[in-house]
Amino acid sequence: MIQTMSETNTPSSHAIATLAISNSTEPKAAQLLSERFKLPIDLHHSAEMTLGWHLVKKDTIPKLALLHKESGPVFIDFISGKKAHRRHFGGGKGQPLIRAMGKIKEGVPTILDATAGMGGDSFVIASQGFKVVMVERSIAVAALLEDALKRALDNLQNLSPEASDPELLSIIMNMSLVQADSAEYLLSQKPIVDVIYMDPMYPEKKKSAATKKEMKALQNLVGPDRDSENLLQAALQTAAYRVVVKRPKNAPIIQLKNPLLKPSAEIFSPNTRYDIYSIKALKAAGLL
Ligand SMILES: C[S@@+](CC[C@H](N)C(=O)[O-])C[C@H]1O[C@@H](n2cnc3c(N)ncnc32)[C@H](O)[C@@H]1O
Repeated sequence: MIQTMSETNTPSSHAIATLAISNSTEPKAAQLLSERFKLPIDLHHSAEMTLGWHLVKKDTIPKLALLHKESGPVFIDFISGKKAHRRHFGGGKGQPLIRAMGKIKEGVPTILDATAGMGGDSFVIASQGFKVVMVERSIAVAALLEDALKRALDNLQNLSPEASDPELLSIIMNMSLVQADSAEYLLSQKPIVDVIYMDPMYPEKKKSAATKKEMKALQNLVGPDRDSENLLQAALQTAAYRVVVKRPKNAPIIQLKNPLLKPSAEIFSPNTRYDIYSIKALKAAGLL
């Protein structure tokens, strides 16, 4: 299910916080992670942020987490917490994110989430029956996603028959992960995919108190994405059906070299806009 996880990547050049591996609870696993990602072990407890293991009493499997002195552990949990809540109460197929994925005659569109982040949007999309390939360039964030997918599978496959949750198991089985820069991945691998979804980090003017803990950790770790136009250009060259870009409600569209390349439609939710680039319409207009 986890397709590739490039072992050759060095820490993202976009990273803004120094990152190291904490070996305080799982020294062997820490050593492996340090070798795999070429990240130092935080021997002197001096790193701004570490990747390490977080274990609470009710859990049997420790969670890989981003550990930050200010924000505490940030990990991904597909089984309980906010993501599980949104699966049950998020509005199903009527929610704007799902409507933005569109419909195709041949069945359910396949989706590539080119900015997977903490996997929240991918999980919502997979919860509605779509197959989702998540692509994430930050090795730390991809490691959190990989750990969350493995933990979810381990937990779900070991449940007693009475407690089993085949629906959640099939959602997790529909999610796969690639660690790569999506623009490079799309142009070199040319994956066959109907919809490419992207939700790049938008430069924050002020860090509001309301910014969620996960998003704050991502902002500290990866910073704003300043190359979204390259990714959008690569996505437009690859997607068969549409490209969907998530933006803050009043943010400008992503400017491309050709100013005529604009969204064909928009879907709004209270704070968010989904810009939809229809490949058929752009091809018909001679723009692709
Ligand atoms: C705003 S977050 C995405 C949040 C995500 N939609 C969620 O629900 O958790 C943006 C993420 O995209 C990643 N990213 C940005 N540009 C990328 C690219 N070209 N290739 C792969 N990942 C990218 C960043 O590292 C960051 O983790």
